[in-house]
Amino acid sequence: MPNIQTTAFEPIVLPASDNGFTFHSYATSPRGEQLVLTTYGEKAFLLQILQRKHNTLIKTQKLTRLSPVSILQDALHSFASLHDLELTYANIHPEKKSIIQEEDFSILKGIEYFVTQLSYKKKIIVEVGFGSGRHLLYQAKQNPDKLIIGIEIHKPSIEQVIKQCKLQEIDNILIADFDARIFLQLLHSNTVAQIFVHFPVPWDKKPHRRVISDAFVQESLRVLREQGTLELRTDSENYFAYAWDTFNNLSKYDLHIRKNYDLPISSKYEDRWKRKEKNIYDFILTNEERSEEKKSFDTITFEEEVSFEDVQKRFQNITIKGDDHFVHFEDIYFIDEKNGFIKISLGAYEKPEHKFLLFKENKIQYFPSTMLPLTQNVKSHKIIKEFLYV
Ligand SMILES: C[S@@+](CC[C@H](N)C(=O)[O-])C[C@H]1O[C@@H](n2cnc3c(N)ncnc32)[C@H](O)[C@@H]1O
Repeated sequence: MPNIQTTAFEPIVLPASDNGFTFHSYATSPRGEQLVLTTYGEKAFLLQILQRKHNTLIKTQKLTRLSPVSILQDALHSFASLHDLELTYANIHPEKKSIIQEEDFSILKGIEYFVTQLSYKKKIIVEVGFGSGRHLLYQAKQNPDKLIIGIEIHKPSIEQVIKQCKLQEIDNILIADFDARIFLQLLHSNTVAQIFVHFPVPWDKKPHRRVISDAFVQESLRVLREQGTLELRTDSENYFAYAWDTFNNLSKYDLHIRKNYDLPISSKYEDRWKRKEKNIYDFILTNEERSEEKKSFDTITFEEEVSFEDVQKRFQNITIKGDDHFVHFEDIYFIDEKNGFIKISLGAYEKPEHKFLLFKENKIQYFPSTMLPLTQNVKSHKIIKEFLYV
């Protein structure tokens, strides 16, 4: 990730702007860690300033990173120039100019887009964890009349696919860059023709992180149209056994299993296992029933105002646990007496969300993006409100 280092960092008067970036304010934690609230058009993110023994490191705060990475590189460049920094290290200059431009990233969408703007006019195909993207691109070319949604959390893979979409003039792909276990919950019922999960990470030591789970299978059946399929492909004997148990938890199913069955397209990952003569298994689960419509989503917000001055008196690093949910109040950052951030993690134990609460003029919002009302998030939100509004 892009970062710059300097031996002499002096704050300047903010807000200050350069090259489309506005650096609004510094926010400082009691431990001396500093954040900088930064905007670029409608995008908002944080830079992080870490004072180290021999120098100062400035990078983007991990939870607020966005694509393309060139925006972050340019932000650090502007930050350095406004602060007149003498840099001892910088990796903010891409080695060769990428052919992908900022506008090509318009196919990369955030949670809000899928909740409020996704069009269901076309049949939808979903691929979870597309990696190199060979299968995703193949599906897009084979199905020009369908919308192909690829979900991937690995940013270089996302940039690779965006580049290929541009080079091959493919215009029926959208990309979601967040956890696939959350993604399906955003979709309307009975809308998806196929869901592909090809070679998911086996997570043998942390099975709770696996994509396939009882909840994922249930959500897949809900979003699939009648006769729509969930297709899992794996080379892992452990995952095969685990998936078999998971599908077997259904009270009724139409499940087809194949072994060493070639598909028209093979990923780099698959080629590697084939060379090693590993067995490859497919599960194809067909949805046979229409599901109930799901009420459309709202996002969780804070209606009542609160004084940051009051909140900071009560702040401590604590975790509040519920039966299936929690909130960890991690750190507090002061912009001034009335404005600041609290860093939190919350939600379900097995798939926690990491966010900031931004306090601005007595109003509160989740930062950098809104919170979805998934069951455990709603419960965690209630805990946060109890903490804020005593
Ligand atoms: C082993 S690779 C397989 C890639 C590709 N499907 C193939 O067949 O070559 C697994 C991919 O899933 C992605 N991934 C892992 N967990 C994920 C999650 N919870 N949500 C979305 N993508 C995930 C990883 O980043 C990785 O690219």
